[in-house]
Amino acid sequence: MQIYEDYSAIIKAVFLWADNNKVQEHNLMSTLSSTDAQALLSAAEQVIQNAYEPYSHYPVGAAILLGDNSVVTGVNVENAAYPSGICAERVAIGNAVSQGKKDFKAIAVYSPKGDISPCGMCRQTISEFGPDITLVFKWQGEIRQLPISELLPFSFSNETMGKDN
Ligand code: THU
Repeated sequence: MQIYEDYSAIIKAVFLWADNNKVQEHNLMSTLSSTDAQALLSAAEQVIQNAYEPYSHYPVGAAILLGDNSVVTGVNVENAAYPSGICAERVAIGNAVSQGKKDFKAIAVYSPKGDISPCGMCRQTISEFGPDITLVFKWQGEIRQLPISELLPFSFSNETMGKDN
């Protein structure tokens, strides 16, 4: 049985190695230059002061880079009826769509409280607008860039629902 346990440890190590490689590959898949990614994160940071978070005290800012290179921002907007609160990413999307802008290239999300990446509901909302939108966020000291399709695989898509154009 010792041999079996040794093999199983080796197999586990190989899988771990392959998985780490995959993560590193993702980190190399940058759509934006590091300057542009940093600029988009800064735009998300600049609106933090407008966050309305009297309950969580967890301010979040989001900034969307559009195909025309304009930037639209949003902040989290909480509510005394807690579930009525809305995340910064979805506020930014609402702002952009209400300006007639839907060609999202990248979305940055930022909180001064620490590492943040979009919550599940925001991932679903973002994926509505295309699988290639790049998410930009700080994670463990590094700026990460990942397509939404990687953050929400096997998503319930607008193709399933036969979306009109
Ligand atoms: N929040 C966001 O704005 N975006 C996210 O992706 C995760 C969470 C907000 C919602 C709430 O106002 C606060 O952070 C704490 O959950």
